[in-house]
Amino acid sequence: MSDQNNTETAIRVEHVSKEFKTKTDTVEALKDVSFSVEKGDIYGVIGLSGAGKSTLVRCMNLLERPDSGKIFIGNKELTALSEEELRVERTKIGMIFQHFNLLAQRTVLNNVCFPMEILGIPKNERREKALELLSAVGLSEKADAYPSQLSGGQQQRVAIARVLAADPEILLCDEATSALDPQTTESILSLLMDINKRLGITIVVITHEMQVIKKLCNKVTVLEEGIIRESGSVREVFTNPKTKAAKRLIYVGLSEDVDIDEEADSADESFMDGI
Ligand SMILES: Nc1ncnc2c1ncn2[C@@H]1O[C@H](COP(=O)(O)OP(=O)(O)OP(=O)(O)O)[C@@H](O)[C@H]1O
Ligand SMILES: [Mg+2]
Repeated sequence: MSDQNNTETAIRVEHVSKEFKTKTDTVEALKDVSFSVEKGDIYGVIGLSGAGKSTLVRCMNLLERPDSGKIFIGNKELTALSEEELRVERTKIGMIFQHFNLLAQRTVLNNVCFPMEILGIPKNERREKALELLSAVGLSEKADAYPSQLSGGQQQRVAIARVLAADPEILLCDEATSALDPQTTESILSLLMDINKRLGITIVVITHEMQVIKKLCNKVTVLEEGIIRESGSVREVFTNPKTKAAKRLIYVGLSEDVDIDEEADSADESFMDGI
């Protein structure tokens, strides 16, 4: 985890705005969003459906280009790069999704090999590395299976192995556990924590599940209607949420039928037991 006196910025989002125009109206998906993720963080972004979370994460690797504002990865401004330079920088950023996005016609092993093919790594080398990665995610015996033969949790492990094949510095996870049952979610979160610790990969986690943030992240930002309402350490924000948006997510997200203002007054450290 990051140390206040010795931090290096992994991602910096500066005054990013993004709107979508449809036939009938304009949606302001992100409004002047700014925050930084330090190297080694597991950084959570929480918000209700439609808050702008996926748009934000897609802006971070410029899958979606902001209308205004800047994105930095390390010291490099992504928003100032040519398409070719951007392709190179993007290899440092891996992404995993709710629905795994594996290639159905390829075996597990060949899914993991795929990014290395794009990077031009020789066949023997990529096979060896893919087998190592499958072993690291506990799926050696499924190397020759096809995605449709795997459970959701196993498919997400393959997706994680595949993303690691390109040696990313940053991993962006958009609702990576939302399609999984609680037990499988736990095992994927443990795997992500292990990747963060062992490989030093900075992780950004987009989720609407408070338990995921509580278990996995050291920092969190609360997004509502495209605006950042509150950011801080998970401990700070979860024990003493200051804004209505954060209180609504944290208290109501953990138990229904709670009076937000009353609950906020009685917040105490015991809430964070088990972290
Ligand atoms: N390509 C698009 N065209 C038009 N509107 C869009 C587009 N992408 C997103 N939006 C709108 O922008 C807003 C933010 O969407 P986004 O997908 O970022 O939300 P989200 O927080 O990820 O929601 P969820 O939790 O449901 O995934 C929504 O109102 C959405 O309808
Ligand atoms: Mg989304």
